[in-house]
Amino acid sequence: MTPHHDAKPVAVITGGGTGIGRAIGVALAADGFNLCIASRSADHLATGGAEIRSRGARVLEVPTDVRIPEQVERMVEAVRQEYGRLDVLVNNAAGNFLAPAERISPNGWRAVVGIVLDGTFFCSKAALPLLQRSPTPSIVNIVASYAWMAGPGTAHSAAAKAGVLALTRTLSVEWARYGIRVNAVSPGPVRTEGTDHQLWVSEELVAAVTRGVPLGRFGTVEEVAEAVRFLASPRASYITGQVLAVDGGQWLGTGVMPLLTSAPPTGERRPG
Ligand code: COA
Ligand code: NAP
Repeated sequence: MTPHHDAKPVAVITGGGTGIGRAIGVALAADGFNLCIASRSADHLATGGAEIRSRGARVLEVPTDVRIPEQVERMVEAVRQEYGRLDVLVNNAAGNFLAPAERISPNGWRAVVGIVLDGTFFCSKAALPLLQRSPTPSIVNIVASYAWMAGPGTAHSAAAKAGVLALTRTLSVEWARYGIRVNAVSPGPVRTEGTDHQLWVSEELVAAVTRGVPLGRFGTVEEVAEAVRFLASPRASYITGQVLAVDGGQWLGTGVMPLLTSAPPTGERRPG
């Protein structure tokens, strides 16, 4: 098929076939973006791609393991050929599992740090030449509050996300000369395909986490996507090197509030 280059801005979303990444695709489609979604599983890409396409965007699905620089380069080349431009990169792909540090094997450590930290760097670097040609280039990295706090039970992910946050701030300064804004969004607890399997593994755990959120509930993928959409848009044209927590206040903690009052109820509130 002959590539058709049009005037719409283009975004790459790693891990864009599922969960938060897919919702970011839907949100950016509403802002007139064409998309490329990249992850390992063709099935994930096909499901997510169909949903984003149903919102009117063109979607290129490129099977990619972000840990492998050659695959990342090939993905960006596919974007160049299909769209001829790239305006926004969302580094959303991640892997995680719950384990105390002493039970994380070298391979387990490398798997998570490789996806989260190496993958974010490889994608950012590969995307640079195309981003430099965009009139409104930006990168949004998805982190977690344990990037600046502590991540007991997920030492690999906490270390990797801390690295991504440092990279966010560093690249925001280095690449400011190209007009590229680099920001991060830090989701609080959100139930997704991946995290239901890897993190939110029991109702007891979900209830305990919920009690730690001042707003008293998990977030939704749409709530996280809305922040990414804002940071990627011209409405955020003077914002760079920042991290926006979309977490119901989780990282601030509830302090003594549960002891002083019975409100807010835990787990009973709905978004909105
Ligand atoms: N507890 C302890 N170790 C675990 C583990 C767990 N729950 N899950 C995986 N590992 C270890 C494996 O045993 C292996 O180490 P070993 O070779 O010493 O045995 C290592 O991690 C790599 O596992 P493997 O399945 O080969 O890696 P992978 O690259 O295919 O998968 C993961 C990467 C482990 C991160 C996998 O969970 C994944 O693909 N996740 C994507 C979805 C996700 O995590 N979503 C949540 C995002 S927040
Ligand atoms: P998810 O559905 O599991 O999404 C993770 C995505 O990463 C999947 O689409 C997966 O696709 C992709 N991926 C994994 N390994 C990859 C690799 N090696 N190469 C390319 N892609 C890979 O989980 P999610 O909750 O939506 O997570 C999205 C982001 O939010 C992550 O950065 C996560 O750390 C962050 N976050 C989530 C929560 C939460 O509570 N949900 C909280 C804080 C932060 P494939 O399997 O097809 O590769």
